[in-house]
Parts: sequence; structure tokens; C-alpha cells
Amino acid sequence: MNDVRCPAGHRKVDTLYYQLAEELAQAITSGVLKPGEKLPSIRKLSAQRHVSLSTVMEAYRALEDRGLIEARPQSGFYVARARLLNLPGLTQPPCEPLEVVTPPVLWPYQASELKPIRVDFGLAILDPDLYPTQQLQRLLSQVTRHQPKLLADYGKPVGDGELRRHIARRALAWGGQFEADEVLITHGCLEAINLCLRAVTQPGDVVAIESPTYFGLLQMLESFQLKALEIPTHPQTGMSIEALDLATRDGKVKACLLLPNFSNPLGCLMPDENKQRLVALMAERGIPIIEDDLYGEFFHRGERPRPAKAFDPAVEDGGGNVMLCSSFTKALAPGMRIGWVVAGRWQREIERLKFINTYSTPLALQQTIARFLENGGYDHHLRRLRRAVAEQVGAAVDAIRRYFPSDARLNVPQGGYVLWVELPPQVDTRELLRDSMAEGINFTPGELFSPSRSYRNCMRICCVETWTTRHEAAIRRLGELIQTRLPLPD
Ligand SMILES: Cc1ncc(COP(=O)(O)O)c(C=O)c1O
Repeated sequence: MNDVRCPAGHRKVDTLYYQLAEELAQAITSGVLKPGEKLPSIRKLSAQRHVSLSTVMEAYRALEDRGLIEARPQSGFYVARARLLNLPGLTQPPCEPLEVVTPPVLWPYQASELKPIRVDFGLAILDPDLYPTQQLQRLLSQVTRHQPKLLADYGKPVGDGELRRHIARRALAWGGQFEADEVLITHGCLEAINLCLRAVTQPGDVVAIESPTYFGLLQMLESFQLKALEIPTHPQTGMSIEALDLATRDGKVKACLLLPNFSNPLGCLMPDENKQRLVALMAERGIPIIEDDLYGEFFHRGERPRPAKAFDPAVEDGGGNVMLCSSFTKALAPGMRIGWVVAGRWQREIERLKFINTYSTPLALQQTIARFLENGGYDHHLRRLRRAVAEQVGAAVDAIRRYFPSDARLNVPQGGYVLWVELPPQVDTRELLRDSMAEGINFTPGELFSPSRSYRNCMRICCVETWTTRHEAAIRRLGELIQTRLPLPD
């Protein structure tokens, strides 16, 4: 299980057979290839794809090991009979705005009082070994050695000029057209979202959110006495634009807060066409979009997806309705808590609120990150991080398919590192958590991701460490514990 490298030292994800297997796996789990459907013969697929026979054979073998296809003697390869399909279509939350009340289970959960944890699928915090901490530590010492006064300086509320320039420069790659002075540095993505919500809402207002959504965002709504309107969300394509259109006709919704790129917990990715429609619709109705792009860099294949902000015209051209929030906490340095916001039309108000909220963000930390970006190692680091994360997720998906009951539904994300599993309705995942924690296995119960507590039979599994036999055994054990909560077959 520790074997995440091929014998030649190449990463598995770089090999042709792995890429072919992944592509077919995606087609199977999304239902493009149906259970029982015959796959092309090895010879035919090899000719179609211009790859060797052995590449196709390897890919088919990998899919067989994952239980996705089966070989039938004298006949060929077929998509296996249904086992752990993708989640069905849109989620169906209640259509009324709700006050947010944090369930009591959240606090011990966040305060890590659930110890001792042997295997942690609970918090979305990646293994510290995945980060270039030694390089950062060296840069931090250099920065403070050369400029000790940074430690005696508040810095400007908007943040360090160099860091803001790097953020604007990097955004050019996805079509982000903003200047360095439109970026404001924050304490992580959470402070960025916090400032945006305060800029555009009043207590009692309604905010449209994905359903399910990250519990940290729900807590923020709760603390500002905002109501949440859960919008049906598709496990592959994200928030339904049609549902949002209907929900925002009466003028009650004052902001839309969402993660178009690899949402937490569904991992869905909104197609560009939908992002475009989202931006146009919200601009037309005068509803600001608060976009959380924390996981945008965590794509498993292809290119970095564009944030919705890419479709928002500049303020001078009548745009600036999207407030883009992100941070370096997941991608580079969780402990530094450096985030940012590009707030468009609300820029001045956000600057005012930052001044009131925390005044500024530690300069030495901002400059350390700016140096890291300057030195050019960031893209290399991101490539390694993405590969490691994609492998962790792939291994977890395989294990869940092997050990969870066949009527569970799993969403295979295209990016990020959280998995969302829907279990049969009899399974209450809070009770399951109580049992699994007795054995030191942590995960997040689904109830925490919705103000209507709609997802009691769901669970979020975070894939934050290199996969080992310990993780495999924990998933197997979770599968057994789930099985004990299901009625015996007749
Ligand atoms: C969706 C989402 N937004 C924001 C955050 C917090 O971001 P930061 O650590 O940069 O404040 C998290 C943390 O898990 C998250 O999952």
C-alpha cells in the first residue's frame, strides 16, 4: 500500500496505463459506460488510442482490481454490475431560508477533543510532510535577519506590495485581469470570506449556499445572524443555476457564497458555461457572489479550472460583482494563515473592514511567501502536491469501493481531497462516528454540512495522508461498522 511509485521511479499517475484506466473509471462511475456494457477488445482500444497492447492490458487489469470491470471467459471485458455508483443527481434541500444553528457535535469535533485518533479522515488538513517547510523556514529566517524591523512594523492593512503583485501575476494564467492594488491580504481564506459577508449583508439577510456546504461557512453565517438558503447542488457540476435562478427571483437573497472549483464536501467542479451563467445572472439581479477558490489549485488532471471571477468584467466595465477569496493555507503553508481577497466593487469597504477587524497581516510571513513565489519553486511544489493528493484520493476511492456496502453512493471528485459518501438511509453517521471513534477512526458526519441537517446518512472522508495499510484497514473497519447498521438480507 505504501507503493505509490512505479519500479522505475515514475509516479503512477504519469503512466499511460494509469491515465487510460482513470479515464475509463470516470466514464464508468459517471454512468457514461453502463453496468454490463461490453468494453472494446484490447486490440481495438490499443489501435483507437495509439497505445501498446500491454498498456491497455495493464489498464484493464487495474480496473479489474478496482472491481470496476470484469473479464468474461471467451467473451472479453465488461463493466461490472453496479457497485458503489456515483451519487445520483441534484441534492434536494428544503427550499426555505433557515437560521443556522451549529449542531452540538461540531464543537468537540473542531476542538480535537475526539482523541485519541488513530486514523484521521476527519479534518481537511494535509500531512505537514507534503509542504516545503524547510525552505519556508530558511526564507523566514532570511527575511527577518535582513529586515528585523518587519517584526516591529504593523504593515499596511491592504498587505505587502510584492505578495499582492505575485497573486495578480499568477491569476493571469487563468485569465484573472486585476491589478496588484486590487488584492487585499487576509488571515486565511476565512477572514477574506468573513469581510465579504460583512461588506454585503446585514443580520437577518438570506445567503444562497451550496447544499451540502463546508460547516465553517455555516458557522460564519450563524455568527452574523444570516439565514442560509440551500440551493440544490449536483455532485459533478455544482450548484444548479436553474435552481438559483428560481430562488433569487423574489429579491430576498442578498449574497451567493459558493465554491465553483472542487467544493467541500462534494468535490464538484462547475463547468465554465455554468460559471458564466452564474456571474451574468447574479450581476443582473444585483446579488454579489462570494467565491471561495481555496481548492482551485487541487485539480487531479488537466488544467487549473478558472474561477467564476474569470467571467466577471472589470469594475470600470460595469463588473466587479464577484469577490474572489482564497489562501495559501491548503496549497503552501497552513501555519502562516495567509489569504487574500479581490473584492471588485466592494474593495474600499473591504479595506475599511480589514482595518477594523485585524488591521493587518504579519509582514514577515507575507514576505516569506512572496520570496517563495519569487524563487520559482511554487509550481514545482504544486505539481508534487497535486500528484500526491490525487493518489491518496484514488487509493481511498478504491478502498471504499472494496469495503463499503454496494448500495452506498460515492462521489469521485475531479479535484480536492475530500470524498462524500451517501449511505443507506438507516445509517446515522453520528452514531457511526461514536462507534468508529471508540476504535480511533475519525471522519465528519454529514449532518454538519447543512443547516437543515439533511445529510444524516452521509459522511465526508478527507484523504490527507499517504495511503498505507493502516488507512486501508480503517476503511475496511468502517465498512464493517456500516454493515452492522443495515438490516440483514432476507
Ligand atoms: C471550503 C473552505 N473554505 C475556507 C477554509 C478555511 O481556509 P483558510 O484556512 O485559508 O482560512 C476551509 C478549510 O478547511 C475550507 O474547507
